[in-house]
Amino acid sequence: MARQGVGRLSHSVCLVLTCLSLALHLILALFCLSVLQTSCVIPPPSSCSSSLSFPGTVPHGKQGRSHSLSSQSSSHKLPVSRMNGDFTKMAAHIDHNVEASFNIVNEKEKDKKLIQTKMATKVSQWISSRSKLEALFSHPLYNLPRKHLLEDDWLLKLKPKNKGGDSEEEDEEEDSDKSSEDSEWQSDSEEDGYDRANWTRSADTHPAWLRYHLGISRWELYDRNDPSVAEVTQQMATQRILSAVQKSGGTQLKLIMSFPNYGQALLKPMRQERDAETDFNLFYFSDFERHNAEIAAFHLDRVLGFCRIPPVVGRLINITREIRAITTDHKLSRTFFTSPVGNLCFHGQCEYYCSTENPVCGRPQVLEVSLASMLPDLSLAPRRSWRSPWRRSYSRTKLAPWEKNPDYCDTVKQTPPYNQGTRLVDLIDMVILDFLMSNMDRHHYETFEKFGNDTFLLHLDNGRAFGRHSVDEPSILVPLRQCCRIRRSTLMRLRLLSLPGFRLSDVMRESLSQDPLESVAPLLSVQHLSVLDRRLKTILKAVHTCLEHHDDVIHDDLQGYDVNLYRH
Ligand SMILES: *[C@@H]1O[C@H](CO)[C@@H](O)[C@H](O)[C@H]1NC(C)=O
Ligand SMILES: *[C@@H]1O[C@H](CO)[C@@H](O)[C@H](O)[C@H]1NC(C)=O
Ligand SMILES: *[C@@H]1O[C@H](CO)[C@@H](O)[C@H](O)[C@H]1NC(C)=O
Repeated sequence: MARQGVGRLSHSVCLVLTCLSLALHLILALFCLSVLQTSCVIPPPSSCSSSLSFPGTVPHGKQGRSHSLSSQSSSHKLPVSRMNGDFTKMAAHIDHNVEASFNIVNEKEKDKKLIQTKMATKVSQWISSRSKLEALFSHPLYNLPRKHLLEDDWLLKLKPKNKGGDSEEEDEEEDSDKSSEDSEWQSDSEEDGYDRANWTRSADTHPAWLRYHLGISRWELYDRNDPSVAEVTQQMATQRILSAVQKSGGTQLKLIMSFPNYGQALLKPMRQERDAETDFNLFYFSDFERHNAEIAAFHLDRVLGFCRIPPVVGRLINITREIRAITTDHKLSRTFFTSPVGNLCFHGQCEYYCSTENPVCGRPQVLEVSLASMLPDLSLAPRRSWRSPWRRSYSRTKLAPWEKNPDYCDTVKQTPPYNQGTRLVDLIDMVILDFLMSNMDRHHYETFEKFGNDTFLLHLDNGRAFGRHSVDEPSILVPLRQCCRIRRSTLMRLRLLSLPGFRLSDVMRESLSQDPLESVAPLLSVQHLSVLDRRLKTILKAVHTCLEHHDDVIHDDLQGYDVNLYRH
């Protein structure tokens, strides 16, 4: 009996040891594989941080923009663990699968794809303990070589140093305008709470918001790795608020807040609980704007690799101290009152929901808000507003042209500016963003006038996104279905985000966790997060259907790049 027991014991010990050794071999194999993949060198990780919560202090400006910028900021790299090297190689393996799964048309690839997907799962399990967001942002698809930028590809420039020296550039936009010979912008007015401004041509004298403005280019609003952008969000979340006034125009209440370094932000208040769903009987154009939608839209746009929404951050503000006591806006200050339960409320003056029946209320004085960084003033950087070809009718009875004609896109494709350049696929990018967050309110979009038709589209005003999670809104995806055009880089990133190792809902959760308001409550409820994966699948299916029925679906914006970089 005893011997039998010992025998059984040693038998199971053997079994455990075998399993252990098998597991170790597997890990070793995976590790070797990753080490052997020396060809998959990731482009210089140009960022000091892909995380918003660590503002760098690296000064950079015009001088450091093109190539020196990456080297400059990489010296300020955050202490990322040494594992990261292996880990990015792992990420590159997964990319292999993305590239492979790209050749959908090729039947033979299918089995291969299946196997590779399995392997991808294995690899992703291996890395699941690490940050998926970091993995995503270190992926080559998120580090495509930047287009070479010429003088005219920057939105703003500083005045040339010697006015007489270079050719006349008087008509160029300038930011630090009120300058003497030495281009200094000085203010001595400290008494009103503003910093003493002493800005020279040198970027390290500029406040973060100015560096962010100077970094705006023809193809993106900001560089994800630019430490100024993280600094802008961090400052909006923490700086003292000096003034609060209503923003005129627009249908719902918004405030413009000013900070000591002359930066400003657009405030949208919390109006409803996070898990509240938009009333199904309400038309999309009368839906509340949501502060958390503005924040989440910024993160989603960044996670999709677009960088076309101005940085937005959440903040808790004290209505008494940070609005009521400091506002010089009489129209606003007349609207404050105390609710029956003793909360401080206000409603301002505007078209919708600015009434005592729809107040914005603190608890009792504390209010959740979103703060969006401002774009350069319109006098410096005028913008052009474009009516979306797929605009809704904004009527309770009429249908829009695209709802009546399935071939509507054929007309659009012939119409400037959609007949040239990247405008149509830019619009499709926007449609993808809007479908994911269920934003039905994109009647217009804007571009910077300076760049003409060849430029990115600003994805402004996302307060009506994330209204419903129980249903998806198929009509938002109509432009994609009707046009069957998509950027290759966008499609590949979407595929990447559908892999378990980079699951969209997971990277979004992680990205949002960097926002200060996450300490109050998750910015997107679990339901809103998980629909992202479902909607992503719907988009990929729509593209798949396009590929089955049309040639010329893919706009190959990766042409000319070293494709091997993205394959291995
Ligand atoms: C502004 O800064 C420059 C150097 O950055 C310094 O020489 C100058 O004295 C400063 N001016 C004022 C008014 O602080
Ligand atoms: C809000 O500000 C008022 C006035 O400064 C102050 O009395 C109150 O304690 C503040 N409330 C909170 C929660 O900080
Ligand atoms: C830009 O688009 C407009 C259509 O809004 C068109 O009239 C114009 O010719 C385009 N410009 C160029 C340079 O293609």
